Amino acid sequence: MNPQAIIKAEKKYIVQTYKRPPFVLERGDGVYLYDTKSQRYTDFVAGIAVNALGYNHPAVLQALREQAEKLVHVSNLYHTAPHVELAQRLVENSFADRVYFCNSGAESIESAMKFARRWARAHFDDDKHEFLAFSGSFHGRTMGALAATDRLKYQEPFEPLMPGVTFADFNDLEDAAAKISDTTCAVIVEPIQGEGGVRPADPEFLAGLRALCDERNALLVFDEVQCGLGRTGTLWAHEAYDVTPDIMCLAKPLANGLPIGATLVTEGVADAIHVGDHASTFAANALVCHVACAVFDVVSAPDFLAGVCEKGDYLLDALQNLDAPQVADVRGRGLMVGVQLTGEAAPAIQAGYENGFILVNAGPDVLRLVPPLIIETDHIDALVDALPELLEAVEEAV
Ligand SMILES: Cc1ncc(COP(=O)(O)O)c(C=O)c1O
Repeated sequence: MNPQAIIKAEKKYIVQTYKRPPFVLERGDGVYLYDTKSQRYTDFVAGIAVNALGYNHPAVLQALREQAEKLVHVSNLYHTAPHVELAQRLVENSFADRVYFCNSGAESIESAMKFARRWARAHFDDDKHEFLAFSGSFHGRTMGALAATDRLKYQEPFEPLMPGVTFADFNDLEDAAAKISDTTCAVIVEPIQGEGGVRPADPEFLAGLRALCDERNALLVFDEVQCGLGRTGTLWAHEAYDVTPDIMCLAKPLANGLPIGATLVTEGVADAIHVGDHASTFAANALVCHVACAVFDVVSAPDFLAGVCEKGDYLLDALQNLDAPQVADVRGRGLMVGVQLTGEAAPAIQAGYENGFILVNAGPDVLRLVPPLIIETDHIDALVDALPELLEAVEEAV
């Protein structure tokens, strides 16, 4: 099919939950994507913080080939090596004692919610089933995750939502203290909010949430679906805060584009979960887990993480010195950066496409830069040089 036919067929056959730009991506290489007309784009989106190693990374290709030739899927009913090898890597390099695998970020949040309720029932009474979440949060689109996602536009068409979720203001510890209660089983927070506009939590806020959870016998859940696995220059974003959760949700970059989620828990949480409590047909699939082991080995190497820090600082510094009146603020850590604009981001994203850059927003007026972690400084220079012109498209205040 030619690109026009593909775009036309998409309109006809696909449920229209996404608005896509008018080109068809065909292949990728490193940090570049190419469309069907061989137009090259430098990718500052990475499948929304997924393709940490970019496209055609040799370690990913090798792992894919190796495992595809051996075994792809046999169900969780049976033992296979890759899921244990991946779990061991995640546990030995985190606060966690055990891992539950699933297929996406939202599923990882659902698992965390179920585990928190199961844990609370095992130790307290039935009333302890509520969750505290925060303004600006995004945890996914399934019913539980959606209930903890602070976006009316996403919630209202699907009401009634799962009851029992209270929201406090992000980075407002007093508000959290006022809203947590003895019926709270878990507090769910992104150490760096992604969809909410790339907003890092304040260190005192996360430390304060830890203390509140301990005081109220609630679990602290970190949603690192977007900010986890090297994105911010440390393996886990919360390492920079020196605060550990009881549960951590992971997904996006784990297998560089193959679907996977993981819910990491302490032994105390795992103790409350029993055979049959939760399950998923595709989860812990041998192919996905083998690729994820390869991704983990590359990303967790100290030199690789140091490189993410350096390139992230370089990007932040360049953006902070950008001479563009449309930039109101620049924030983030590592290669998770938000450029707060004075108006809508959409026209700048459109200008990006026309100038060979793949860009994405986070909310209406934030340009979100989450490139493959293998990006180099010359790719960053190319974007930063182009940005003043791209941002000229930003006009009106939102
Ligand atoms: C922080 C966070 N949590 C959860 C999710 C949901 O992940 P998924 O789209 O894989 O269900 C996302 C997706 O953007 C996310 O950014």
